[in-house]
Amino acid sequence: MPSSYIKGIGFYVPGNVVSNDDLARHMETSDEWIQERTGIQERRYSTKHKETTSILGTNAAKKALTNARMKAEELDLIIFATLSPDYYFPGCGVLLQRQLGITKTEIPALDIRNQCSGFVYGLSVADAFIRSGMYQNILLVGAETHSMGLDFSTEGRNVTVIFGDGAGAVVLSATSETDRGILATRIHADGTHAEELAMINPGSHGGVHADDLTIFGYEESEFGKTFISPKMITDGMIYPNMNGPFVFKNAVARFPEVIGEVLDATGLVKEDIDLLVCHQANLRISQFVQKRMGLRDDQVWNNIQKYGNTTAASIPIALAEAVEAGKVKKGDLICLAAFGSGFTWGASLIRW
Ligand code: UT7
Repeated sequence: MPSSYIKGIGFYVPGNVVSNDDLARHMETSDEWIQERTGIQERRYSTKHKETTSILGTNAAKKALTNARMKAEELDLIIFATLSPDYYFPGCGVLLQRQLGITKTEIPALDIRNQCSGFVYGLSVADAFIRSGMYQNILLVGAETHSMGLDFSTEGRNVTVIFGDGAGAVVLSATSETDRGILATRIHADGTHAEELAMINPGSHGGVHADDLTIFGYEESEFGKTFISPKMITDGMIYPNMNGPFVFKNAVARFPEVIGEVLDATGLVKEDIDLLVCHQANLRISQFVQKRMGLRDDQVWNNIQKYGNTTAASIPIALAEAVEAGKVKKGDLICLAAFGSGFTWGASLIRW
């Protein structure tokens, strides 16, 4: 049975740098608060209309293909993970296919909706396709344009200050080398807390307004079947909402747990990890996980300080940056781990 390895990797972030002080001009917040609670110093925002999520993803994908020394037509499958697609539908996968100039309809495009865990979920799907022998070369992209859908008033500050835009991509290819590539991946979900980190409007539930925050149990006549209404907009109910401390508490428990699972599955131990790349949710979460696992500073890679939380893009951006910086050598054991909205979480162990 073949296994899969990362043959090429690349990332792209918009050139527009937004500092904490820039945000403080729009809402009641401060550089001091943001750095102390999240570690974030700045993030990137896309240029409206010019840098959509699929365009960021395409830019990252081109770099990954160049790094893999491959042409787009050599791919067998595209997987695109995002929570901020260009359109409600179709997904970004087909847009990326078009932007890469792929005309072969044999190259399908699959979209993944698992928010911060999207990249690890995508990795697990790609790995399974390659192991089954169905595909040889899969492009996996994680990309986000959060800046177009955030609440820049003080009401939205707990969410808005943490998110940034960007994209990362990998080409996963089949190999017969058994001691190389993805060694194990584990993915999980618990929908009990789905609304604790969510953007619930617009949706097929018919619409939620500020005067009724429950999405279940209301009479149809109260709201009608409104996909999106002016009231939702004036109520500010079209933005993501997050119970930050609750998400934080769950994240710091789930990260070490799922990392432990992939280590157990391979018979390896935490001391074997050369580099841990956690989804960049909050620097304090990554530091908590590092401490809990007893890892040294040189065993972890964090870049949230520069890019903020880029959801599905954060792991491939951080991994690509670590590779570019020469932090990843052939034979290294790399651990990727993610937790986020859903809740969904997962981890992957890779022998580089
Ligand atoms: O990537 C997906 C998964 N997401 C995460 O893992 C995020 C997890 N959660 C977090 O990172 C943190 O909970 C946040 C960074 C979102 C918030 O930090 P916190 O330390 O949990 O703050 P808090 O929500 O408990 O709020 C504490 C105070 C509140 O004021 P009062 O009620 O104590 O007066 C907030 O209104 O800080 C206030 N606050 C802010 N103040 C200045 C919230 N956001 C801000 C802000 N600037 N941006």
